[in-house]
Amino acid sequence: VKVVFKKEGAEDRVVEGQVGNSIMETALDGNIGEILADCGGALSCATCHVYVPKEWQDRVGTAGAEEEAMLEMAVDPDERSRLSCQIGLSDEMDGVEIILPKSQL
Ligand code: FES
Repeated sequence: VKVVFKKEGAEDRVVEGQVGNSIMETALDGNIGEILADCGGALSCATCHVYVPKEWQDRVGTAGAEEEAMLEMAVDPDERSRLSCQIGLSDEMDGVEIILPKSQL
């Protein structure tokens, strides 16, 4: 399934991901440098923070309580915020658009 990584002022980058892998893993596979993923997916760093556009939220799902708590540590979180290590790819997410934050630092 394709994941489209979007960033203000930059070209879209499309990465082919495997169903069952996380968006974070897909980003690392595709050399998406904005996703630092310092903790390796253990839900303890918030450096895999991304924004999910409203039109994709139904298919992507919402954050659980632990993820919500960790999102408070992210840079500039808003109502679209998710931690990309907690989003698993499914077939219906083919073409999903993921907005990268300006900075994770
Ligand atoms: Fe650390 Fe997602 S990689 S919280």
